[in-house]
Amino acid sequence: MLVLGIESSCDETAAAVVRNGSEMLSSVIHSQIESHTAWGGVVPEIAAREHLVKIEPVVKKALKDANITAADLDAVAVTQGPGLIGSLHVGVCYAKAFAYSLGIPLIGVNHIEGHVFSVTLENPPVEFPALALIVSGGHTNIFYTPEMGKYQLVSRTRDDAAGEAFDKAAKMLGLGYPGGPIIEKAALEGDAKKIHFPTAKISDGRPDMSFSGLKTALVRYMRENSVAPANGEVSQEIKDIAASFQRAVIRGLMKSFEKLAGELQPKSLIVAGGVACNLALRDAAAELADRLRIPIYFPSKHLSTDNAAMIAAAGSFHLERGDRAGLELAADVTLRLQNSGNAEAEAGRRGNYRR
Ligand code: KG4
Ligand code: ZN
Repeated sequence: MLVLGIESSCDETAAAVVRNGSEMLSSVIHSQIESHTAWGGVVPEIAAREHLVKIEPVVKKALKDANITAADLDAVAVTQGPGLIGSLHVGVCYAKAFAYSLGIPLIGVNHIEGHVFSVTLENPPVEFPALALIVSGGHTNIFYTPEMGKYQLVSRTRDDAAGEAFDKAAKMLGLGYPGGPIIEKAALEGDAKKIHFPTAKISDGRPDMSFSGLKTALVRYMRENSVAPANGEVSQEIKDIAASFQRAVIRGLMKSFEKLAGELQPKSLIVAGGVACNLALRDAAAELADRLRIPIYFPSKHLSTDNAAMIAAAGSFHLERGDRAGLELAADVTLRLQNSGNAEAEAGRRGNYRR
């Protein structure tokens, strides 16, 4: 079973071929970072235009790298949402036309479910129930996953995503874009205990997360201590701020993850999404898992940020269960990943139907 995955939800144009749900034959990612750097963040209009230019060569390369032709494919899986509307449209329209022209099934995949599959794709021993922390530039959620394909949202950020907090902090500190990797690099030479940034308290007692207060605390700290944004040279003071800020974001994530892991007693822990590239986060999560004696799984670096192999893997799972999308499949900016365990109803809600 050969599935072509297509991903274009944000600023990566990606295509991949996965065999039998677990064997990655190819994975091509065109990152648009260079086109957005000058603007200090992703510009949706530029992203959509670049996807349009790149999607065809990226898909062709994915087929070539996998050493197959389009005629060998059994299905096309595409990210339906969440993401930027113009970006999503390009992938969805391309996938629809591609699947239709080949007469093969089309499957709409939730991008966040894709991140879960970025881990299970490479780690077949992942046992369920699992607790999955999905943390990236656009989303920060914790899902309780009783079995593959079922998701219960048990914690979410009330405001900014953790990756977004890194991106905004890096901008304020004059470090550039994308913020996560730059903050991580600066933090390596900084003292994480120098400044105490607060961890948000959620007043209704739910195990939710919040990162916008941290951003405000950073603005206040910079103003009160007359910290000027870096201008080329990164000072020790900025490195200390970066390390302390990173520590506070990780503390916020781990607080909810630990509480829920204790309550729900999963058999595995999963950490995925772009921010899962962060080694300090990996260390903190691994230390937590060790303490709780629960196995923990991360995606490899290549699969941590947005890619299409995870979409092809999730698509393969749905293909086997008989999920299909019609040509009316539409990009859905706010697509949620939450189901009651009623897979039939969930498939329908997502625009896929069951054969
Ligand atoms: O999953 P992803 O590629 O795209 C979304 O679905 O959002 O995640 C991108 C996010 C960005 O906010 C980026 O700053 C963050 O992941 N990120 C990191 C690191 N590498 C990427 N955050 C912290 N540390 C990193 N090393
Ligand atoms: Zn993502």
